Amino acid sequence: MIKMYEDIIEIAKRRGFFWPSFSIYGGFSGFYDYGPLGVLLKDNIIKIWKENYLQDSTAFLDTPNLTPEPVFKASGHIDRFSDIACECTKCKNKFKLETVLKFNKIEKIPKNLKEGLELVEEFKLKCPVCGTIIKNISDFNLMFKANDMYLRPETAQGIFVNFKLLYNYNKGKLPMVVGQVGKGFRNEISPRQSLIRLKEFNQCEIEAFFDPEHLEFKELYAYSEIKLLPNNGNPFYGNIAEAYDKKIIPNKALAYFVLKTQVILNKIGIDNDKLRFRQHNPDERAHYASDSWDAEAIIDDEWFEIVGIANRTNFDLKNHDRESRESMKINIDNREIIPYVIEPSYGIDRIIISLLTQSVYKRDNGYNVLKLDSRVSPFHLAIFPLMKKEKLVDKAKNFYSELLKNDKYIIYDDVGSIGKRYARQDEIGTPYCITVDFQTLEDDTVTIRCRDSMKQERKKISDLLTNKYGEIIQ
Ligand code: GLY
Repeated sequence: MIKMYEDIIEIAKRRGFFWPSFSIYGGFSGFYDYGPLGVLLKDNIIKIWKENYLQDSTAFLDTPNLTPEPVFKASGHIDRFSDIACECTKCKNKFKLETVLKFNKIEKIPKNLKEGLELVEEFKLKCPVCGTIIKNISDFNLMFKANDMYLRPETAQGIFVNFKLLYNYNKGKLPMVVGQVGKGFRNEISPRQSLIRLKEFNQCEIEAFFDPEHLEFKELYAYSEIKLLPNNGNPFYGNIAEAYDKKIIPNKALAYFVLKTQVILNKIGIDNDKLRFRQHNPDERAHYASDSWDAEAIIDDEWFEIVGIANRTNFDLKNHDRESRESMKINIDNREIIPYVIEPSYGIDRIIISLLTQSVYKRDNGYNVLKLDSRVSPFHLAIFPLMKKEKLVDKAKNFYSELLKNDKYIIYDDVGSIGKRYARQDEIGTPYCITVDFQTLEDDTVTIRCRDSMKQERKKISDLLTNKYGEIIQ
């Protein structure tokens, strides 16, 4: 497989998608800025997510990043949201024990510090950087603390603590789907690989609340084949309804959100042949989950989680009910229940790096092309005057102003040769470019060029005053 990750990191910085934060002060691992193009791309991805969940009558919420301690005491994050950390006594590098085990080819995941210490003792693990035998390991809570508050490690708790108000808003009905877009913060032991492991990251989370006796939402509809990797080791390729019938995903609500996630990721541009859904092993699950499936995307030849879909049962609401002394119980048909929750949690930064890596390719001339769908590309169209001559520039700028009335995602560019400008737009994923030339001054026609076919056609300006450029050129 041709490796594109390093190319994307270089393109992203040079063209303005993303780059390491605070670099004038030497850079700090785990922090990245989105540049001008990255902001547009990220917004477009979130828009697709939001519009798709609006189709399920989702209510959206916006709650604080800073969260008081009792919330995370109740949610289990203070006691259980930790990794086992190792520090090499010689080179002083810090790692997650999991990473050191993987490096030493040990396929075990310790459940707690005691099991970790036993593994360190038994296998004489080597430091991945300098080879020294690892001795120091400790529990490391992943939350950032600020006085008596914590920066939230997930947006989800902001939804759980508002359950009763939301249930009232939803007119006392279940199922109820609630979403939140926001930042999450984790004090990662070894942040790495650009957007893949960040200390401050972008999440789009859905919490879907159910009567535990009716764990189903909408019908499972026919869609493309899905690749499932259950933790029994037998891969499944087929449709989601079949996977539910065969009890590979025995929870219909969870199966629905797996399907929904596949649909949304496909719309964003992640192809099915680069996407799979892997069930967690019991020892891998988060402290709140009874079952979890990760949507994983391939970046070069490694699979990464981009969405986690968990059955959180009533773990969170039950704990908030007990600790806050505000009842989270509701009455349905004379039964007092605390609802169950299915949570699809989308890691937007990882979706972005997966999408970019999967979308870039090189033309025969060595130039990069970013094959983004116009639903997500930062711009739909670029407009150029052929040369920087006053008449051409005036005409191009007038045409640009007219186009902006229908579509704001258009970029004007008059820097460098036409060839350079095409190459620049190809590399940032702009699907179409229009050139205003001398013939335009005579007959109000322009050339429109398609990024993917590189085909150029002459069209009347009046035909192009729409944002459906693709339909016009094909
Ligand atoms: N809410 C799930 C997570 O952040 O991992």
